[in-house]
Amino acid sequence: MRTEQPQTIYLKDYRQPDYWIDETHLTFELFEDHALVHSRLFIRRNGDAGLVPLVLDGQQLELVSVALGDQTLAPTDYQVDEHSLTLHPQAAEFELAITTRIEPQNNTALEGLYKSGGMFCTQCEAEGFRKITYYLDRPDVMSRFTTTILADRGSYPILLSNGNLIASGEHEGGRHWATWEDPFPKPSYLFALVAGDLCLIQDSYTTLSGRTIDLRIYVEPENREQCGHAMDSLKRSMRWDEEVYGREYDLDIFMIVAVNDFNMGAMENKGLNIFNSSCVLAHPDTATDMAFQRVESVVAHEYFHNWSGNRVTCRDWFQLSLKEGFTVFRDAEFSADMNSRTVKRIEDVTFLRANQFAEDAGPMAHPVRPESYMEISNFYTLTIYEKGAEVVRMLHTLLGAEGFRKGTDLYFERHDGQAVTCDDFIAALEDANGVDFTQFKRWYSQAGTPVLEVDGEFNASSSTYRLRCRQSCPPTPGQSEKLPFVIPLRMALLDSEGREMPLKLAGEAHARGNETVLAVTEAEQEFVFEGITEEPLPSLLRGFSAPVKLVYPYTREDRVFLAMHDPDGFNRWEAAQSLAVDVLQGLVEIHQAGRPLLLDQRLLEVWRSVLADAELDQAMVAEILRLPSEAYLIELARVADVDAIHHVREWVRRELANALAEPMWQRFDALGSAAQPWSADAASMARRSLRNTLLGYLMLTGSSAAMSACVRQFVEASNMTDRQAALVALVNSPDEHQKHAALQEFAQRWADYPLVMDQWFNIQASSPLPGGLERVQELMTHPAFNIRNPNKVRSLIGAFANNNLVNFHRKDGAGYRFLADRVIELNLMNPQIASRLVTPLTRWRKFDPARQEMMKVELARILEQDKLSPDVYEVVSKSLA
Ligand code: PHE
Ligand code: ZN
Repeated sequence: MRTEQPQTIYLKDYRQPDYWIDETHLTFELFEDHALVHSRLFIRRNGDAGLVPLVLDGQQLELVSVALGDQTLAPTDYQVDEHSLTLHPQAAEFELAITTRIEPQNNTALEGLYKSGGMFCTQCEAEGFRKITYYLDRPDVMSRFTTTILADRGSYPILLSNGNLIASGEHEGGRHWATWEDPFPKPSYLFALVAGDLCLIQDSYTTLSGRTIDLRIYVEPENREQCGHAMDSLKRSMRWDEEVYGREYDLDIFMIVAVNDFNMGAMENKGLNIFNSSCVLAHPDTATDMAFQRVESVVAHEYFHNWSGNRVTCRDWFQLSLKEGFTVFRDAEFSADMNSRTVKRIEDVTFLRANQFAEDAGPMAHPVRPESYMEISNFYTLTIYEKGAEVVRMLHTLLGAEGFRKGTDLYFERHDGQAVTCDDFIAALEDANGVDFTQFKRWYSQAGTPVLEVDGEFNASSSTYRLRCRQSCPPTPGQSEKLPFVIPLRMALLDSEGREMPLKLAGEAHARGNETVLAVTEAEQEFVFEGITEEPLPSLLRGFSAPVKLVYPYTREDRVFLAMHDPDGFNRWEAAQSLAVDVLQGLVEIHQAGRPLLLDQRLLEVWRSVLADAELDQAMVAEILRLPSEAYLIELARVADVDAIHHVREWVRRELANALAEPMWQRFDALGSAAQPWSADAASMARRSLRNTLLGYLMLTGSSAAMSACVRQFVEASNMTDRQAALVALVNSPDEHQKHAALQEFAQRWADYPLVMDQWFNIQASSPLPGGLERVQELMTHPAFNIRNPNKVRSLIGAFANNNLVNFHRKDGAGYRFLADRVIELNLMNPQIASRLVTPLTRWRKFDPARQEMMKVELARILEQDKLSPDVYEVVSKSLA
């Protein structure tokens, strides 16, 4: 057991810092085996704080020297411990000079200054700057930074930091230097530095007000050809933020750097975004359509942070969703505008329900604005990001686009240059619109996924329809009782032809048109619609207007009807999904009872009709034909029987494929071939998506025609989307020969492309065929695998534990033991990655008693390690509590 337990930090303890740092001058001397960091800080006491000590954050630093004013301090003048440096300044304003020595080449945690391949780079959010130098490393301390970098010119010709390059020159011994100055005050978490041998892709952008911005993407030379899509995405993001939010870029230069070793997706450092190469590089030969869309959305996300995050930042880390929830909402709307809005929403909702709902029901459940944490890195969660975005979306729904824009205009104007809170954001929306969001703010303070139970009662004699709503929210750690939320319920009433009926609420003077948003605010509440002359079928929670679990007593016939007729595309998909969920859940029970499985013909008929629907967007057809994921079915179950869920889901897939093989072939053939030239437009992407969904089904029939179509596609594909889809189908087929041939060919051809090899690992790690664990263990010895690279860990170990549920949960517990071993291995090497990796084990309460026991044994074994990182300690100890 670790001896010293990490401290818990509370929101209620927040107070302003005792000192401000107005200016920060940094000089980095970079060498192969260490770096020296010289800082000169211009510090000012905060208001009338008296003679208080100055406590600077610092971790894993070697302190070389400290000088206060022109006085070099002796070790007796200050105190240093593992986390801080304490000084005793007498003046209210003074200059402090510190030199620290660090070893970037040994920094495997990828936080602070580290080396990725041959390049130096930084990651400072959330608390990485304190691993570079002693500082007030908190987001409410905002400072103007000037940064000088000195390094060997041969190995590091490119030297970058935030802001504008103001000077550069040569130094003796083949070294050179560059000085960057960032005119915008910023917290230390937005600091960045890069030094490396990089090639530059350059473009420019003219803002609406006519300023020209120099756009630069820096990558390793072999990736030069893969930056076009990121650059286009950047320009589109800049235009969109001007048009939709009235926000222009503010510096004259905007840089993106791609690095191979990165814990997250990307980082919004002021003027110098640093990206995981997986979120920048995209070329049709090597990246799938999904990867293209991810690049577009992450580039947009980081760019949008320039306003929602940088110009207006967070007061403290409890406010993280202030920038992340808002920015995810912004990037989702951008992607919706660039591509299909409905498909984007379906993807996001699918992801939220399978993953964030599980988090909200698990041991780490926390509100969008948490009240406490041990390690802030553990709170970069689906709740902060995705649920936080849903909360902002609800505000947008309640205010309407115009009202929301008035609110954000006021927010940016009022708080430009400040570090603020979620309450400040809400106050700006309230003040701009004259509304009161007091009750709405419970979304920020209460954790858990609310359940919204609705039922309807038609009264023919009074021509009314009564919609009864009841909301509740399950208890979460530290919160047993919940107060009612404000739930925007977007809805319509459909007649027997599927047409929307005009809506007029009893007691209201004006009709509400054919679709409306009801605000459900009470634990129990009724809405009475008048002038309803036939029994309607309600279409509820359109577009997933609130992150809740909707329960309505629909029959399977109702769901079939909605899947065929709902004029709202999202709800058509939702009806088909919920029909499939209902059918699958029913079959799981039948399977558990040992009775033979029989497919409900209604599911088949919906699938048949969608397949024949030539009007419907092809990407939508693909979305509807896809069955709900195993992860989602597990989330919905009280006690999840993984084997039964997997067995039944595969069985239904095969039944659908066999019964619909003919129309599937017809549609497949009509969609052309994977050999035709690649094109990036939405229609082509939709075509690939549908064709590959169909290929997956057709391969389940086991016909030789399907196998040869698949092999042909693997060989002839003009792009990675189609090639990869064929590889997935081959890997999951029983044909050992074809599978191995394809895997080998693929690995040889793409050996020099790490991101493609990530896909190769991922596909194999995700394959549900027996022996999955052994395959993964074997792959860990493959030369392309490297446990120090987070992308590799995610694509092999993460994919296995998260996507390969039958193999991970195998009965003897070997999957659990394997994961725990990897967590222990990564615990000190990269605590952030280790603590993310452990998540599947923390979900033990979902499974049968035997599995629960084995999962807990592994968690306990992790907890017994004697140097447990705070990251892993927090997640594991909370999951056992
Ligand atoms: N702030 C980054 C983003 O969401 C995420 C991130 C957090 C990256 C912490 C690195 C470290 O855009
Ligand atoms: Zn972000």
